[in-house]
Amino acid sequence: MEKDDKKVKYDGKPMEHEFDGIKELNNPIPPWLQVLFFITVAFSLFYWLYYHVWTGDLQEQEYQKEMAAAEVKLEKHRAETKQLDIILLTDDASITAGEAIFKEKLCATCHGQLGEGNPIGPNLTDKYWINGGTIEQVFATIKNGVPTKGMTPFKDQLPDEKILQVSSYVLHKLQGTNPPNAKEPQGVLVE
Ligand code: HEC
Repeated sequence: MEKDDKKVKYDGKPMEHEFDGIKELNNPIPPWLQVLFFITVAFSLFYWLYYHVWTGDLQEQEYQKEMAAAEVKLEKHRAETKQLDIILLTDDASITAGEAIFKEKLCATCHGQLGEGNPIGPNLTDKYWINGGTIEQVFATIKNGVPTKGMTPFKDQLPDEKILQVSSYVLHKLQGTNPPNAKEPQGVLVE
């Protein structure tokens, strides 16, 4: 081995060590590859620190978090799109709420203070119904109104829950009362 050889670092020539006649050539990897290598080392260090030392979420935790967030969204969606069961409410709280709506929403202007009816609207206390006397039908009449006959649709003014309360008030509380000055029956008898 020449002395000069040692001075030149990377020259592609055999290096000093040798084993069983096998020599290593002094051939470094090209600089761009070296740079790439250092980048991967730096990246792995950052990766390790971020995920294993600091707070970064590992796959499993990330998955759990995403699932929990999706569950919250789903619950919200379910609550928003929940269909109300249209069944007659008979509890005091609902009937009282229904009565308040009857007064607030000026139902009385067209149906009388006691639901007895007046020249505008029909009597709501008898068993005769123009648009049907089941809870579903009464609910639908109040919700969609009968615009051609002068009954206001309340779907834009009242949420379904409140329409159900006032419908229940009409059927459970008003119906069957015998207020003075009741308007003559209209529609068909519903027993
Ligand atoms: C602007 C006047 C007016 C207002 C306000 C009004 N109604 Fe009516 N309502 C009518 C008229 C008129 C009819 C009859 C519709 C028909 O002939 O089909 C009617 C029909 C109804 C019926 C069906 C009666 C039947 O025989 O089928 C119900 C129930 C009813 N109204 C409840 C209500 C309630 C509850 C409110 C308040 C939230 C209300 N109305 C507000 C005018 C009104």
